[in-house]
Amino acid sequence: MSYLETTKDVYKEAALTPDVGLCCTTNPIWELPGLKIPRSMQEMNYGCGSTVHARDLINNPKILYVGVGGGMELLQFAYFNRQKGGVIGIDVVDEMLEASRKNFIEAETQNLWFKSEFIDLKKGDAMHLPVADNSIDVAAQNCLFNIFKTDDLKKAIAEMYRVLKPHGRLVMSDPTCEQPMNETLRNDERLRALCLSGSLPMVEYIKMLTDAGFGTIEVRARKPYRILDSKNYATDELIYIESIEVAAIKDPVPEDGPCIFTGKAAIYFGTENFFDDKKGHTLLKNQPIAICDKTAQALTDLKMNDIFISESTYHYDGGGCC
Ligand SMILES: C[S@@+](CC[C@H](N)C(=O)[O-])C[C@H]1O[C@@H](n2cnc3c(N)ncnc32)[C@H](O)[C@@H]1O
Repeated sequence: MSYLETTKDVYKEAALTPDVGLCCTTNPIWELPGLKIPRSMQEMNYGCGSTVHARDLINNPKILYVGVGGGMELLQFAYFNRQKGGVIGIDVVDEMLEASRKNFIEAETQNLWFKSEFIDLKKGDAMHLPVADNSIDVAAQNCLFNIFKTDDLKKAIAEMYRVLKPHGRLVMSDPTCEQPMNETLRNDERLRALCLSGSLPMVEYIKMLTDAGFGTIEVRARKPYRILDSKNYATDELIYIESIEVAAIKDPVPEDGPCIFTGKAAIYFGTENFFDDKKGHTLLKNQPIAICDKTAQALTDLKMNDIFISESTYHYDGGGCC
């Protein structure tokens, strides 16, 4: 059986018998005025982090969500969208589609504004999306792509890129790991399916996105996720796994390379009112400006003693230089 088949089996089981501990989400379940998340959805929260960010959701975007789980994030997206078929949900596991369908019917009883018809559920595979080219404003996946091996991950990212409109955004949450994982862990299909042994270092994860053509990357959050210890897993050393929230925007890649925002800022504190680097960045005196890592390096290379560059916070929240 391939790891993709094992993954389907794991999530068929998780659809038939909800498993609260299956994924170790570090996010509290957030609710908004008028938004109630049914318990059955909360019990099937198999993600890590959140892909729902209000600032992505202005102007009634057409939304695609791949790997629906119990449907919680689709309901949260629908809260902002509220249109018939405004959120397309795709999953390869029939039982998961059925479970989320039931959860949406329950959500209707608890949310006066919500109708199940806001969500268009379709059977489909992340590697062959049944969605037209250039038709989506916001695409999302939470805790699915980390399961995929490199070639499959490339296909899944290329599919997201294909269906997004120009300047559309792919919002994702996934585990990442900076330590090497041994082959026993990597090849354990069940651990991989459980989002525990497929994760990449953050830089490699981002490179997969920029190699696919995304010109702007935003690292929005980075948090502790799980530990693999030698008592419970096939490892001699303790392995620390984090989860990240990332947006990849379908902007053209600039000639000098993609803009990757990791939460750095520049502050000019010289004698003038501002500093202009003549490359499109004006630093007003004593006002932090968010900068991408490329600009941070370029400003550092100037070796000026009146510009401070802060470290990455991995909590980029909009604004900035590019
Ligand atoms: C870890 S769960 C995450 C569910 C949901 N995103 C959440 O945050 O709760 C992975 C989801 O992806 C689905 N899935 C697995 N393989 C898939 C594939 N090849 N294509 C599309 N969906 C897939 C599973 O059925 C499951 O719903």
